[in-house]
Amino acid sequence: MSNSPPNDQNNTIEFKEGVPVSLLFDDVYFSKAGGWEESNYVFFHGNELESKINGDDPSIFQIGELGFGSGLNLFVTLENWMALQNPRSVTFTSLEGYPLNTEVLLALNKSYPIKNLWFQDLLLSYQTAKLSWEKDKTKNLWVYEWIHNSNKNQFVLNVYFGDILVCLPSFPKVHSWFLDGFSPGKNPDMWSGEVLSILRNKSDKGTSFATFSSAGFLRRNLTELGFVVEKKKGFGRKREMISGYLE
Ligand SMILES: C[S@@+](CC[C@H](N)C(=O)[O-])C[C@H]1O[C@@H](n2cnc3c(N)ncnc32)[C@H](O)[C@@H]1O
Repeated sequence: MSNSPPNDQNNTIEFKEGVPVSLLFDDVYFSKAGGWEESNYVFFHGNELESKINGDDPSIFQIGELGFGSGLNLFVTLENWMALQNPRSVTFTSLEGYPLNTEVLLALNKSYPIKNLWFQDLLLSYQTAKLSWEKDKTKNLWVYEWIHNSNKNQFVLNVYFGDILVCLPSFPKVHSWFLDGFSPGKNPDMWSGEVLSILRNKSDKGTSFATFSSAGFLRRNLTELGFVVEKKKGFGRKREMISGYLE
């Protein structure tokens, strides 16, 4: 099986109102109405993560993301984790078939000038991993680590480069999922029955998920796999989003 994305076309990015837009998928990486707030609302609070990653539990809390993109969800989660006095160790595992180039990532820093996002060492590490994957598709894991200022626990980032069907089987068992693979209408590959059934196998009783989409087929498929699916008010002008947990 090839480790390349199914579609070899260049994923050209354009900026519209400061937000990266993929011309390949004809979709935005995050909301024009406030990407940071959207990510915090939909994914972090949608999974009720604040209480889950807080406290003395010595086991590692596992977050799984489908679609690493610009890393915005990572930075929002990391900021929340750093702000806690005594958080658990967290591993944030993501995947990406079309890793963005440095210019696009640096533009994220410009959009959020008071945040500490793509600092030089992180960017260098990402670039090295991306280049190595582009040369040799079997070297597809990028790892980076942060240490908490007060309790010295670790936040570990793992990003697998390649198509979702190649990367998702390497994920650990996940406690909370961020489903962020562009809208299902524009990118059905990230929401297929095969993907959802691997996701189910990587979940345990109580594993939660959250996503900006409330598409009917997605609600039905997740319900059939054993997830309790709840509709909630969407972010900004979006009417609905969904979240839930495995029964
Ligand atoms: C909405 S964006 C993710 C936004 C991201 N979470 C952020 O914080 O910026 C969706 C991501 O899924 C990736 N993607 C789309 N189809 C894919 C596939 N078949 N396999 C792997 N990644 C894919 C895209 O390249 C894109 O980066």
